[in-house]
Amino acid sequence: MEANACKTLVLRSLESDRMDLDTFIPAFYQRLFEVCPEARAIFPTDTARLEAKILASLTHLAEALESTERLDGILMKLGNMHRKMEISDAHFGQFISSFTSTLAAILGSEWSQDTEEAWTQFLRFVAKRMSFFAASEPAGEVF
Ligand code: HEM
Repeated sequence: MEANACKTLVLRSLESDRMDLDTFIPAFYQRLFEVCPEARAIFPTDTARLEAKILASLTHLAEALESTERLDGILMKLGNMHRKMEISDAHFGQFISSFTSTLAAILGSEWSQDTEEAWTQFLRFVAKRMSFFAASEPAGEVF
């Protein structure tokens, strides 16, 4: 899907009247921990704190969709932060499918094949850039 069409669809779902992030985020984690129980152990038990951060980060990412540079700045920080967790492609895959299926449930009739394609493409891009930065030299550490 063309990048602008992808961004438009991602933003449309985030801005939808049906979208309630306070419901979405806990539902997403519940689904993720169901399909990927081993992920539970590496997440902090204080999920309220984590949920608030993810929520802020999602909004931040969505706002940066217009600018590849801003987006990459955020993804570099996220990649750095996830480095020590050594997340596998399978984990990213479970993260993405839990995310899109929770979104589908919350958006109901506003969810379509195109929206699914847009979110999957966007989250795969995010995961790819995070993995790239996680595999690079940690920013700011010079030996
Ligand atoms: C598209 C993929 C992902 C995005 C956008 C993402 C985003 C985030 C954000 C924004 C935070 C909070 C950062 C902060 O503390 O300020 C976070 C924390 C965390 N993420 Fe991810 N994440 C992704 C994938 C994953 C995956 C696949 C795993 C492992 C299965 C994972 C494990 C964690 C853990 C354990 C923390 C908590 C760190 C802590 O506070 O102790 N993430 N993630």
